[in-house]
Amino acid sequence: MVTLLDNPLRVGLQQERTPEPLILVIFGASGDLTQRKLVPAIYQLKQERRLPPEITVVGVARRDWSHDYFREQMRQGVDEFGIGIDREETWQDFADGLFYCSGNMDSAESYEKLKNFLVELDGKRGTRGNRVFYLAVSPKFFVPGLKQLGAAGMLAQPSKHRVVIEKPFGRDLSTARSLNRTVQQVCQENQVYRIDHYLGKETVQNILVFRFANAIFEPLWNRNYVDHVQITVAETVGVEERAGYYETSGALRDMVQNHLMQLLAITAMEPPNSLDADSIRTEKVKVVQAMHLADTHDLTHCAIRGQYAAGWMKGKPVPGYREENGVNPESTTPTFVAMKLMIDNWRWKGVPFYLRTGKRLPKKVTEIAIQFKQVPLLIFQSAAQQTSPNILTMRIQPNEGISLRFEAKMPGPDLRTRTVDMDFSYGSSFGMASADAYNRLLLDCMLGDQTLFTRADEVEEAWRVVTPALSAWDSPSDPASVPQYEAGTWQPTEAEFMLNRDGRRWRRL
Ligand code: BG6
Repeated sequence: MVTLLDNPLRVGLQQERTPEPLILVIFGASGDLTQRKLVPAIYQLKQERRLPPEITVVGVARRDWSHDYFREQMRQGVDEFGIGIDREETWQDFADGLFYCSGNMDSAESYEKLKNFLVELDGKRGTRGNRVFYLAVSPKFFVPGLKQLGAAGMLAQPSKHRVVIEKPFGRDLSTARSLNRTVQQVCQENQVYRIDHYLGKETVQNILVFRFANAIFEPLWNRNYVDHVQITVAETVGVEERAGYYETSGALRDMVQNHLMQLLAITAMEPPNSLDADSIRTEKVKVVQAMHLADTHDLTHCAIRGQYAAGWMKGKPVPGYREENGVNPESTTPTFVAMKLMIDNWRWKGVPFYLRTGKRLPKKVTEIAIQFKQVPLLIFQSAAQQTSPNILTMRIQPNEGISLRFEAKMPGPDLRTRTVDMDFSYGSSFGMASADAYNRLLLDCMLGDQTLFTRADEVEEAWRVVTPALSAWDSPSDPASVPQYEAGTWQPTEAEFMLNRDGRRWRRL
């Protein structure tokens, strides 16, 4: 048997390697992402001895902070949002590699100053000119930041210089294209790491293993056996303190174009030839290229938006979206989106993929449910039983695992059937919690493995798929035309109708 592990070209998904010594430069160092996710992830990776001792982090932001003040802020982050600090010496060792350099994203002098500082650090820390520049800043700074990095010659060596770009990558197809053009002007595609943190989740990577390391599912994974697929990403939180960002984004841009599309692509892609980054990404792009909204003439059949109205969460009253701090009382920004997508290829022609995501839904749950067709002839009619279809559910979070639902005979003299589940749970099988997605993604980027990052063509295709809904919802519309759902309920009735019309219903979770 030939295995991918025999392939000398393989990178990533299954290797244990240590990155070269390098400096991670974080633009947006005074922001939440740096304190809550990035630095706690680096600290944990260092604890787990996955990073070389020379690893160095330089925070860049406008504020006039000292190195020590930056270290204090990061320490709070590790304590509050990371694994915590158990030994003072360990923290000290880590903190010795943390530095701060104030600067403006669009001022050339700031980049000259930074460049000199990084060279100085190379001398002190042995980081050999290797750099990862992480743009953890507002998207409006992506273009000026990239241009300045390019002009300062800081991306000039493809083997030593990488750049990480946070989401959202553009706000529609044309802005994503123009951002990609800027990227191409200043560096090569193999230097670019477009982050989608869903790809860093263990359970998302496991979809690949589940599909391509097991022989029994692949023969069923197509239009002959699958009736439809439902992908749900439900959140209980509301807009929180992020109205400024969310009002310009909404659920379609914030969740569907990136996270849900990635889940869908991995679920529906063809088997890659190997595990190298481009084989996997090419298969993902191909399947997204074949995707389209089920009915581009009538969006009510395939794209439903919604907004949460006041309601109850965990026994407490919560305000509606339009009453939240910083939200326009006439806002038409969707906090919920449901879509029906079709994939025009041999494997999936005619199989609907239903997607839904929303804030202030009853439960935090992300899952992919593959519903299989009914048996061709039900011979148990005499038992007056309504049998349920087989459903394979991949639970991405929480309660991570996979279950297969099937019919079983109930014990007793009568022929009665009942639906039961065969269940795999990460908790009981592996007995350890999955690491945060950022740990994995940061490590991969430092190792130069792009498998779990989105390629230029992929991000553009994902925008293309959602464009008809974006254009319709971006044009001025009467606030009364946006379907409302009470906080703490699953979806607006319009989204129910979308499935009922097809003789189906959303899963009850
Ligand atoms: C982010 C969105 O990308 O993903 C947030 O901007 C959302 O609005 C979050 O809450 C959900 O991520 P997770 O990992 O909690 O499912």
